[in-house]
Amino acid sequence: MKKIIITIDGPAASGKEKIAKYIAKKWKLKHLDSGILYRQLALIILKKKIKYDNLFELRKIIKSKPKLSLRKTKKIRSQEVSALTSSIAVYKFIREYINRKQRQIVKINSNQRGFVIDGRDIGSVVFKKADLKLFVYVSEKNRAKRRYKQLIDSGEKSIYQKILKEIKLRDRQDKNRKHSPLVIPKGSHLIENNGSFNDTKKQINYLIRSILDGLSK
Ligand code: C5P
Repeated sequence: MKKIIITIDGPAASGKEKIAKYIAKKWKLKHLDSGILYRQLALIILKKKIKYDNLFELRKIIKSKPKLSLRKTKKIRSQEVSALTSSIAVYKFIREYINRKQRQIVKINSNQRGFVIDGRDIGSVVFKKADLKLFVYVSEKNRAKRRYKQLIDSGEKSIYQKILKEIKLRDRQDKNRKHSPLVIPKGSHLIENNGSFNDTKKQINYLIRSILDGLSK
């Protein structure tokens, strides 16, 4: 059977991960969270005390082909790593390295039924020929509220206004960067994730059923 590729793009804290995990479980697909790769790379850079604008040292790191774990640790979710991640994600050589990693992961796991991959440029750049492309929309305020709750629940200290400001800043960086900015990919379906998750699930499952029907004909 043909390996199915579903891409999910959207801004920070829009619920892409929750949606991707849900799809992976329901439709027996493997989940790849591309943000983890960017965050793991940022963590390596942070540990080496390299600044985000030291291009010479950043290139050296990429040349050394760093191994990037897919483990989602608490450290990579910290505000410090989040901010550095968006700052290094602007560079073309970094994006190309991570794009190659993503394609390798999908290729190597060829025994899988398929993949659901989430990020910022998955449907627009990394897997342009995906079978289904989703773009998640949630208002800035709802995203900040959800991120705030996530941080508080995981035991971190947090201030709502600060989170809202950081979300706006990350949106600006992601949308305005020169290479692979966050866009609504061509041919993608808009998923409205402001309301209940049941409502989101209905939108998604309807789309997945129709692509699977199409593939089996
Ligand atoms: O999705 P997540 O919040 O973990 O992503 C962290 C950051 O990594 C984003 O704010 C974005 O700057 C960057 N990123 C990206 N392209 C991706 C995934 C993440 O630029 N495909």
